Amino acid sequence: MAKITVIGSISTDFVVETEKRPVMGETVEGKAFSTSFGGKGANQAVASARLGAETTMLGAVGRDTFGSELLKNLEENGINVNNVERVTHSSGSAFITLVDGDNSIIYVPGANGAYMPEMLDRVIEEEKVFQNSDLVLVQNETPVDTVEHLIRRCNEIGIPLLLNPAPARELHSSLIDQVTFLTPNETECSFLFPGEDIETVLAKYPNKLIVTLGSSGAVYHDGQGIQRIPSIKVEQVVDTTGAGDTFNGAFAFAYASGLNLHDSIRFGNIAAGLSIQKAGAQTGAPTLEQMKEHEDFEKKWDLK
Ligand code: RIB
Ligand code: NA
Repeated sequence: MAKITVIGSISTDFVVETEKRPVMGETVEGKAFSTSFGGKGANQAVASARLGAETTMLGAVGRDTFGSELLKNLEENGINVNNVERVTHSSGSAFITLVDGDNSIIYVPGANGAYMPEMLDRVIEEEKVFQNSDLVLVQNETPVDTVEHLIRRCNEIGIPLLLNPAPARELHSSLIDQVTFLTPNETECSFLFPGEDIETVLAKYPNKLIVTLGSSGAVYHDGQGIQRIPSIKVEQVVDTTGAGDTFNGAFAFAYASGLNLHDSIRFGNIAAGLSIQKAGAQTGAPTLEQMKEHEDFEKKWDLK
């Protein structure tokens, strides 16, 4: 069974649907408000667990009622939360504006910002679950020191690590060299490699850099040339929030289950395409059964 460990944010999403984003000083009437479970780390953990991976979550929530609900949601998704810290900060939150299914987000780290390198070290020293992971996932909603520490430690121990550099922030090239997979979207990619065109950067990091392109799928360089992996056809986009997270969680599940890089990306693209047909960042993440029902699922992917 695929064993995935996710280090990352666990947040409540406060979602407002509106026809128009207000400009400075303007008030507009919204269509609907809802809260849902989010945080890039938690979304990726849910995506991987729902497909059947043995998934462990590391991160921090507050001692507030949000924190309890966030943990309960992860547990209900079958995720191991034994090592999630509870800290005095308020739990993380994200304020999301949805216009026609597309989002803009204000992220307030709160407790997520209190997940320190020492907390990670304790788990690495004491918990077999970390050492036994097939793949570790991390994103940029966790403090930069913790992410950099994690990259060094995984490299030292020899555990494959996927960094989803979202939201974008600076990353030293020596750290890029130490990660197994780097999965920016197009915007994050041009932030990380300013002034370089995408083909050149892909060729520089073959079989490591995977750039996700939304409805245009994803691209990587396989050592010979650039591979473009399509997304699936989606009739009606309901909510793209968390699509990237579903891609990462599903990719991780597929790769840790033994699919090759190309097929793991295709698998991730299908999962992400399914996820945007439901509201919320986690609701649409598919089960393996739902994946198998999709016409683009390939029989040769012998996944259990
Ligand atoms: O990637 C989507 C997530 O990022 C949302 O669930 C929200 O928590 C944001 O920070
Ligand atoms: Na969704």
